[in-house]
Amino acid sequence: MPNAIPQPAAASAAKSNRLATSICDVRKEYVLKSETVRALRGVSFDVPEGDFVAIMGPSGSGKSTLLNLLGCLDKPTAGHLLLGEDDISSMSDDELAEIRSRRIGFVFQSYNLIQQLTVVENIQVPLYYQGRLGSEERRRATDLASTVGLGDRLDHRPNQLSGGQQQRVAIARSLVNDPYFILADEPTGNLDSKTTEEILTLFDRLNGEGRTIIMVTHEDEVARRAKRVVRLKDGLLRSDTTNDEADRQLAREEQKAAVIALAAREED
Ligand SMILES: Nc1ncnc2c1ncn2[C@@H]1O[C@H](COP(=O)(O)OP(=O)(O)O)[C@@H](O)[C@H]1O
Ligand SMILES: [Mg+2]
Repeated sequence: MPNAIPQPAAASAAKSNRLATSICDVRKEYVLKSETVRALRGVSFDVPEGDFVAIMGPSGSGKSTLLNLLGCLDKPTAGHLLLGEDDISSMSDDELAEIRSRRIGFVFQSYNLIQQLTVVENIQVPLYYQGRLGSEERRRATDLASTVGLGDRLDHRPNQLSGGQQQRVAIARSLVNDPYFILADEPTGNLDSKTTEEILTLFDRLNGEGRTIIMVTHEDEVARRAKRVVRLKDGLLRSDTTNDEADRQLAREEQKAAVIALAAREED
């Protein structure tokens, strides 16, 4: 009897064949008074669960448009975009808002934390919108703070944290809903090399635990750390390449060495 060996769910999660998202001939047009801008002109690719994708491309190539669609902030003009089993192309705005708040984890260049709230409260923000605020949620937020190395900063406010720490709060917040994927828009765009290294190491770890990450970046150094690089140009997919594991390891080592060299120079 084939397939007789049961696969434990947890062990197979990281290398399941399920798709976090499937993008099929997606087009997005913005209709302006005098013209129609074709921001995406038929883009297709799948992201399996557990993948770590860097999206690159020159300014105007459609990266933000694609990110907005993946984040359920907008719908395609044509084509299909599946999140798990759900096709967002045919959803109402209310359904989109629901799925956005429940199933997408956003990380932004500028962190987007609420200054009046503590670390734990910021991590819980996506749950507020769902009216889920019990002690179990607080414990979950506290656990996530520890996961990102902020277990001793639970009651700090954003202005008492460094940029890297704030971005780690944002990453913890992105995980509180158990999202389809982390959607990161230039997550290291505001950070120096040392802090960039910290954040990429955290992404490595989360991805190693089976989290799917989709990240827009314009930095080659950052893209080298992903498992895969998707390049857009003029609203079309220009290339889709895999970073092999040896090259990723080399990138990690080079970037760590550069950080250490920089620190040594600063001590002189
Ligand atoms: N809301 C909008 N209305 C009209 N045109 C837009 C809008 N958003 C983006 N565009 C246009 O779509 C194209 C792709 O933009 P964008 O997705 O922001 O690219 P990128 O993030 O790669 O720089 C550009 O020509 C841009 O001017
Ligand atoms: Mg953009």
